[in-house]
Amino acid sequence: MTGNELRERFLSFFAGKGHTIVPSSSLVPANDPTLLFTNAGMVQFKDVFLGLDRRPFKRATTAQKCVRAGGKHNDLDTVGRTARHHTFFEMLGNFSFGDYFKGEAIAYAWEFLTRVLELPPERLWITVYQDDDEAYRLWQEVAGVPAERIVRMGEKDNFWAMGDTGPCGPCSEIIYDRGPEHACRSNPCALGACDCDRWLEIWNLVFMQYERDAGGNLTPLPRPSIDTGMGLERVASVLQGVDSNFDTDLLQPLIKAMEGLSGRAYDRGEAGFPFRVIADHARACTFLIADGVLPGNEGRSYVLRRILRRAARFGKALGVEEPFLYRLVATVVNIMGQAYPEVAEQQDYIARVMRQEEERFHETLNDGMRVLSGILERAGREGRQTITGQEAFTLYDTYGFPLDLTEEIAGEQGFKVDRAGFEDAMAAQRERARAAREDVKAYEFALAFAGNLDDIGGTEFTGYGRLEDTGKVLVLVREGERVPSLAGGETGYAVLDRTPCYPEGGGQVGDQGSLAWPGGAARVQDTRRLPDGKIVHQVTVTAGNLTAGQEVKVMVDRERRLATARNHTATHLLHRALKNVLGEHANQAGSLVTPERLRFDFTHFAPLTEEELRAIEKEVNQKVLANLPVTTLETSLQEARAMGATALFGEKYGERVRVVKIDAYSLELCGGTHLRSTSEVGLFRLTGESSIGAGVRRVEAVTGTAALDLVSQESQELATVAGLLKVPPFQVAGRVQQLLDKGKEMEREITRLRNQLAGYTVRELLGHVREVDGVPVLQARVDIADAEALRELADKVRDKLGSGVVVLGSQHDGRVNFVAMVSKDLVKRGVHAGNLLREVARIAAGGGGGRADMAQAGGKDPSKLDQALAYSLKVVAQQVR
Ligand code: ALA
Repeated sequence: MTGNELRERFLSFFAGKGHTIVPSSSLVPANDPTLLFTNAGMVQFKDVFLGLDRRPFKRATTAQKCVRAGGKHNDLDTVGRTARHHTFFEMLGNFSFGDYFKGEAIAYAWEFLTRVLELPPERLWITVYQDDDEAYRLWQEVAGVPAERIVRMGEKDNFWAMGDTGPCGPCSEIIYDRGPEHACRSNPCALGACDCDRWLEIWNLVFMQYERDAGGNLTPLPRPSIDTGMGLERVASVLQGVDSNFDTDLLQPLIKAMEGLSGRAYDRGEAGFPFRVIADHARACTFLIADGVLPGNEGRSYVLRRILRRAARFGKALGVEEPFLYRLVATVVNIMGQAYPEVAEQQDYIARVMRQEEERFHETLNDGMRVLSGILERAGREGRQTITGQEAFTLYDTYGFPLDLTEEIAGEQGFKVDRAGFEDAMAAQRERARAAREDVKAYEFALAFAGNLDDIGGTEFTGYGRLEDTGKVLVLVREGERVPSLAGGETGYAVLDRTPCYPEGGGQVGDQGSLAWPGGAARVQDTRRLPDGKIVHQVTVTAGNLTAGQEVKVMVDRERRLATARNHTATHLLHRALKNVLGEHANQAGSLVTPERLRFDFTHFAPLTEEELRAIEKEVNQKVLANLPVTTLETSLQEARAMGATALFGEKYGERVRVVKIDAYSLELCGGTHLRSTSEVGLFRLTGESSIGAGVRRVEAVTGTAALDLVSQESQELATVAGLLKVPPFQVAGRVQQLLDKGKEMEREITRLRNQLAGYTVRELLGHVREVDGVPVLQARVDIADAEALRELADKVRDKLGSGVVVLGSQHDGRVNFVAMVSKDLVKRGVHAGNLLREVARIAAGGGGGRADMAQAGGKDPSKLDQALAYSLKVVAQQVR
């Protein structure tokens, strides 16, 4: 039975038992900051177990993509050393949400294994939690397993928890006995007593009963539930009669492909370790990238980078010096593309991301390996067993070696790495970077509110509906102190109980505006939200005094707000257009919305082409022209997700969220202020595109008046150029091309003429040849500024002269250039161009030298040029034998 068939059989078996088949959720857990990756089938149902969420079904079954590389369940270091561990694997599971419990869960599992898969019942052993008498009894009653094949075990093996907190409960595992021939040498080799290859865990049934909190306390769940997990690869190995997951049809093709790429044969023992690591990691990388993770330096991105770089290093161990992992994406797609269309659909994208990261690592891999060898050697010499944190950090920071890669290589040679020291070095660097980034304004706000404002009430924001409102001043702060009032000319901070001013957030800048009260006025320069939700205005009093308790009229700067809204609505259009043109992977990574412009960062692997940029701009402008209504609604986060709203990964959302909808085109969670219809954008123009890091691009754009101004500036510029060229604006390009062609033509003509002229000069110069002791010597002053051209001329003269000495000098910009050439026969007679020029140039306050047949020199005194040249006759006379 193939792995794909096994998956199918499992899902349809449980569908037949009233379970809803639910697709695998993403490897990136939705909205769960406690978890790095989806590491079990139950992750997508966590809130259902906890009673926080409800589904329309009480029974579900899934084939779930899982990654265990980081956090509580981490198998990264074990991969390849055993036949069974993976960073990426598939978990088949059935779930009951307060519906059936232990008895049925046991009956279903037994039926599936013994009837559908037809595993011999006598090969199946059971473990139960030590105190779980009920499960111990049920296995005998429901499945007929004899008591001697049921083993009670402790918390470590038979109490399953998703993480340090969350749903958990006692569990029961089904073990497949691979037979005495696989027994280890422990005495006795028995389930529970040893941990060897004979006893293969294939299915874990968790009786979900508790929620564990951060303090470790267990609270009973609202309804006891069932969560099970069966390792697809493990069961496939049993059904296919092979000793290792790596020999199943789910992984073997990857090892085959790697044999092809490396030209080496796979060894099932120790020596095959790199093959197994690569096969495993190729799957993990493919699926992580498909789920939107990109290699990087933080969190999930860093884990992906570690996995990918680890695989890259093992490729090197197999003698593959080029990026190769990306070539395995096609094989992964072949094996699993049907069950997981997301990898098939994004095959090219995944391979490109992988290749880029491999290339980046390869650039520093060799250097890094050399540095690491040096470090290990020195540590050895110094009698150390440990690599310092700083050494490991240098490898990380300069050569891109993830810590565990360094640890692994060092470990192979018997060295440890000072992990704590590394973390310190890392923290120090983060701190430096953070301090450097510290936004001056945010700093000011934090300072201003150093004091505690807990005793005053909150602020109601009314700015979605109105741009003017009245509010009461709750508190005034100046230079970090509460003050009863602000006098004219003073700048401080005012918290109001109600305000229409939008506080900076979601990338959109804070509003500006003004305050007015009887006898006074103030400018609002910025608006921010304090961590506890209160809205604070930075104000400068322009007339009268502003006192705490005063009722004020608050007016938002309308033009500025409108310009900002244009850019914000345009940002949503842009986000959708980017996805439509580039692909769904183009996710928001950051954004800035100001009245002047918008800036949008998103995940993408390559510079955008002219065509892509044009297509994006065009799509946005079409949506502007389509006059689409922009509406907002408030709903629950879950409802919003169900509607398909785009939410920012890693962003914290409250229970109630605001959704901004642009007709049927765009749906985003957003708290910003928007237009009522897209046509108010007026015009959208992209103004820039650049890279801001690995796999993240940035585009900038303008809308409304700024876009119109840009167009008008462009046409003015065009008109100016057209005026200079004396053609209508739309003939500028043709005219410029003509001029460029003409320029080239003229250059060619100049070269031709120069050569011709040089010909005349040569002929003329030859008339000045003098004889010195029977040696023809030509010394002359010429009018050639460029040293190179001077040399060319001397070359020509010498060629014409046959046997002889040529010395030419010229002056330019207060400097003198000399060149001397001596024919071969005269070199033999002792004439030396280099020595000659050295003496000649000295007269014109210069120096230089060169070979016997050719030399160049310079001088600083043009007034001595003729004298110097004349002197050359004397020198030749001295040199010639
Ligand atoms: N959630 C259980 C496990 O991962 C089934 O083993």
